[in-house]
Amino acid sequence: MAYSEKVMDHFANPRNVGELPDANGVGEVGNSKCGDIMRMYIKVEDNVIQDVRFKTFGCGAAIATSSMATELIKGKTVEEALKLTNKAVMEALDGLPPVKVHCSVLAEQAIKAAVSDYYRRRGVDPTPIVGQVPECGECACHG
Ligand code: FES
Repeated sequence: MAYSEKVMDHFANPRNVGELPDANGVGEVGNSKCGDIMRMYIKVEDNVIQDVRFKTFGCGAAIATSSMATELIKGKTVEEALKLTNKAVMEALDGLPPVKVHCSVLAEQAIKAAVSDYYRRRGVDPTPIVGQVPECGECACHG
């Protein structure tokens, strides 16, 4: 299965790449098997994700899914962002080849890690809200 046009577009022209100096939530997840790492920066105001950036040191599918994921959570509430699944990101990209599905999990986990950091900075325990975000080496990529 070839990559969809949308995947190729987000890979070639990723949206929201970079860092956010005034981010109030930063999360990093990784896949120790392939060595790919994704870092997500969010700026939350009034419970809404005003801005988001990402850096992905990884494969094309990981770059495309993180790009699409940032587009999907921008302007959304924190709760809405937490509901974003890797399946929804893949659907928005018109699918991924089966061997690349695990790459899309990184984007979902990176958002959860960034939101967890946001809660922690506010003195809120994120675990009951976000759940356990797997540390690098424990995530679904390794299943
Ligand atoms: Fe590692 Fe895609 S091969 S995230």
